[in-house]
Amino acid sequence: MTRLYSSPLQGFTDYRFRNAFYEHFGGIDQYMAPYIRLNGKMEIKASRQRDLLPENNHTPDLIPQVITKDALEFLFVAEAVQKLGYKELNWNLGCPYPMVAKRGMGSGLLGKPGIIDEVLHIVSEESDIKVSVKMRLGYESADEIYEVLPVLEKYELANISIHPRIGKQLYKGEVDLNSFESCLKQSRHTLIYNGDITSVQAFRKLKERFNSIDHWMIGRGLIADPYLPSMIKTDSLIYPEDRYESFKEFHDSLFAQYEEALSGTKHVLLRMLQFWEYFIRSFPSSPKGLKMIKKAKNYQSYHKAVQLLCSTEAAE
Ligand SMILES: Cc1cc2nc3c(=O)[nH]c(=O)nc-3n(C[C@H](O)[C@H](O)[C@H](O)COP(=O)(O)O)c2cc1C
Repeated sequence: MTRLYSSPLQGFTDYRFRNAFYEHFGGIDQYMAPYIRLNGKMEIKASRQRDLLPENNHTPDLIPQVITKDALEFLFVAEAVQKLGYKELNWNLGCPYPMVAKRGMGSGLLGKPGIIDEVLHIVSEESDIKVSVKMRLGYESADEIYEVLPVLEKYELANISIHPRIGKQLYKGEVDLNSFESCLKQSRHTLIYNGDITSVQAFRKLKERFNSIDHWMIGRGLIADPYLPSMIKTDSLIYPEDRYESFKEFHDSLFAQYEEALSGTKHVLLRMLQFWEYFIRSFPSSPKGLKMIKKAKNYQSYHKAVQLLCSTEAAE
C-alpha cells in the first residue's frame, strides 16, 4: 500500500498551507512541519509554536521537526512538542544551506556520525519520544551515509527519509538513485524515498525501480501540482474537469489567510509570488504567467492576473 508523506518546506508548508491543501486535495498520509531551530536559547519561536498548536492544525497526522547538533536542545524540543500532544519528532539531517551546514547542523552533521550517535544515545535514554530521521546522502560526499546508517541501526527509529543528493549540491543536478539503492541493503528501518517526484510518470518510474519501497515523500512537486498526491494514490493521469476551479478555491483560501496574517499588501503579494514560483508549473499555457503575477502591485490586479491564468488554462 503506497504511503505518501508531505515534505516540509520552510516558508511554504506552514499550517495554513497544510490545512488548505488537506481540505482541497488530500492524498497525503502524513504531514511534516518545517523545522524548529533554537537560537542558543531554550526557547521556541512563537511562529513555530503557532505552527504546531493542535487548534491550528486540521491535518490528521502531523510530525514536528527539529534541527540541532545538541542532545539537550533535542530533549527540550521533544518535551515541548510532547506537551502539545505529539508522539514523534523528526530530526533534520538534510538541510543543505551553508549557514546551517557549516555550523554542523542538517546535512553538515552527516560527516560526524559520532555526534549523531551521541545525540541519539542521550535522547533514547532520556526521552520516550519516537524519533524519525530525514537526511541526505552526505554534505561533501555521497559516501558519508555509509558511516551514518550503521549508527542509525543501533536505535529504534520510526523511519528514515532519504533525499539522495548531497548538501553541497543544494537542489542542483540529478538525484543519485544508485546510492539510494545501496542504502536499501544497509538498513532494517522503514525507508522513505524523497526527491524530485514531480509527476505520476516520474513516480511510476521510481516505483518500478524501487519496488520494495512503499513510502514516498513529496515536497516541491506537491506545491507545483497539489493534485499530484491523490493522482499517485489512484495511479491516474487524468485531472478532474474542475481542476482550475478547485485550484482557484485553494488559492483564494491561502490568500485570505495570508491577508489576515501578514501586514501590508507588499508582504501578502510577495508570499503569494513565492508560491507562484511553484504553482506556475501547472500553467503551461501562460508562459508569461509569472511575469503577470510579479507585475501586480495591488490586490485588484493580482486577482485579475490569477483569474486570467486559471481561465486560460481551463479553456485549453
Ligand atoms: C524552500 C525549501 C525549504 C525547505 N525546508 C525544509 C525543512 O524545513 N525541513 C526539511 O526537512 N526539509 C526542508 N526542505 C527540503 C524538502 O523537504 C525536500 O526534502 C526536498 O525539497 C526534496 O524533495 P522534493 O524534490 O520532493 O521537493 C526544504 C526545501 C526547500 C526547497
